[in-house]
Amino acid sequence: MEIEASMVYVRNAFLMKDCVPSRLTEAIAIDEMRHMNWLGDLIVKKGGVLVMEHKELDFGSEDLKGYLQKQYDLENDAVKRY
Ligand SMILES: [Fe+2]
Repeated sequence: MEIEASMVYVRNAFLMKDCVPSRLTEAIAIDEMRHMNWLGDLIVKKGGVLVMEHKELDFGSEDLKGYLQKQYDLENDAVKRY
C-alpha cells in the first residue's frame, strides 16, 4: 500500500500545474516513500525478505470528475484504515 500510495501521489503531482498544491502532493509522495523504507527496514530486521510488488493501480476514469472521485475514494479508504 505504501508503494501504491507513493505512485498515486507522484502521478497527481505531475498532473497538476506547478503550484503549491502540486508541491505539497509531491512532498506527500516522498513521505509515502519514507513509510515504505521504514516498513522495509522493519521487515528486514525481523528476518523477512522485501517484495516490491503491488496490485495494479486504478486511477479511475480518464475524465476529470471520475478521476477526482477515485482520488476522493482512495483518501477516504485510507482514513478509515488508519
Ligand atoms: Fe504511508
